[in-house]
Amino acid sequence: MPVLKGKELRVVGFLCNWCSYGGADTAGVGRFSQPTDLRIIRVPCSGRVDPMFVVKALLGGADGVLVSGCHPRDCHYSQGNFYARRRLETLKTFLPALGIDPDRFQYTWVSASEGQRWKNVVSTFVEKVHQLGHAPRIEEAAPYLPLAAGGDSPRAPLRPLAYPAAGTLAASLEQLREKIRAALPELDCVIGWQQGFDALHATPLFMRKPEDVDKLTWGPLNVHNLATYLPQFKNRKVGVVVKGCDSRSVIELLQEKLVEPDNVRVFGMACEGVVDMTRVQKALNGTGSEGAGTADGAMCADVAPASVAAEGDGLTVEGETPARLKLTDVVAEKCRTCDTPVPLLGDVVEGNASAPAGPAPDAPPSLEALDAMTPEQRRGFWRAQMDRCLRCYACRNACPMCVCRDHCIAESRDPHWTTQEGNVREKLQFQVIHALHLAGRCTECGECQRACPVNIPVLSLKQWMNRSVRTLFDYRAGVDVNAVPPLLAFAVEEKNIKEHGL
Ligand code: FES
Repeated sequence: MPVLKGKELRVVGFLCNWCSYGGADTAGVGRFSQPTDLRIIRVPCSGRVDPMFVVKALLGGADGVLVSGCHPRDCHYSQGNFYARRRLETLKTFLPALGIDPDRFQYTWVSASEGQRWKNVVSTFVEKVHQLGHAPRIEEAAPYLPLAAGGDSPRAPLRPLAYPAAGTLAASLEQLREKIRAALPELDCVIGWQQGFDALHATPLFMRKPEDVDKLTWGPLNVHNLATYLPQFKNRKVGVVVKGCDSRSVIELLQEKLVEPDNVRVFGMACEGVVDMTRVQKALNGTGSEGAGTADGAMCADVAPASVAAEGDGLTVEGETPARLKLTDVVAEKCRTCDTPVPLLGDVVEGNASAPAGPAPDAPPSLEALDAMTPEQRRGFWRAQMDRCLRCYACRNACPMCVCRDHCIAESRDPHWTTQEGNVREKLQFQVIHALHLAGRCTECGECQRACPVNIPVLSLKQWMNRSVRTLFDYRAGVDVNAVPPLLAFAVEEKNIKEHGL
């Protein structure tokens, strides 16, 4: 094995107790020579290997990680390795997003009697890791912050973004209010939007009395995904007003039984896009910049406008500094590629929206920017972004699918997965945990990125994960209440997963 040259690297191996650990033992008993770089961690089953184990090892300085379990159909727990295969393959396609060479991670199957095979597997993998050399550390990467990485490259929208005439919009809104008033006696609350601290901001509205319904607003300022509040109303009857993209979150919550179908009423309105407040701020006073702003990115507006009205292809801002903002200039990035302007489910759906000209692209602009980087640039990119992260958890708190906040692994002391240190590695690890927990569940509503007070493009991690899930399992989250999320299922013969040749 010439490349080894007697120098050890750090390779971590997660071996299932019943097969691969036995295989390694058999290789030892058979006195097969093996590289000494591997540090073995015995686990009950390959299904016990959370992808986070692998990421933590790789971010923590391991040069390679090997997972080995029983051959498919031989798992001691019958299905553990089938689930593991899906998770680990998804992880393998996700690692490049972090600038980690996917060849540093491998998974395979070795039975207890296959001592010779174990020797071959471990020798081949360790040799490959030696060819790659020491793994570069993310905290040592040269910071890389290209201008386009924040998704600031406008792309032609999939459909003409134009709000109907003010009268038409008001009539649709009034119809919606009527439906909500009629339903309110049976519900604890209906969640919608109202004007916030000024005319440029909307804020969530919790309607409990008929007079509250008068405050309901509709338009491009309704940026929040109100489905985030639904799990907090467990076992209570609640209504929610949704845009098309928000309805996908409700579908996902129903699918995962995080809300009861009998307890939730969905009031939908067709949507022509919502604004990105950072872009509005830039357009209004030219003082905005990536990386500066509040949770909705717009605290710097010099003068509070008296009114803001959406009509046609733009927003008319009245006040001391009147302005006409073109919707295509200030619309949120997700709305450019949105193919669900009309809610996919709803007890009531009001209004009309223009139809998208085609399907949503596989790579939205911020993901395209990440795609265009080299692995080294990606490491530098995340290093620079995580340097700015405040670890405020706003991204997690705004996420409609992040439902275990009180027991979040990022803050837990038992198990103690991440420390509270403010270093790049721990912060990136938290973001990766978030993306991994959303694999096959994220509807790309963009709330994580919108809520980030320093505008870190964390959505691109979830978009990368979603693309992997689509490619591997032909699955899109939040479109079918009866679908089973791909990482909660398996196929004995996976169509798009090729077993690795170790
Ligand atoms: Fe070995 Fe499940 S027991 S993979």
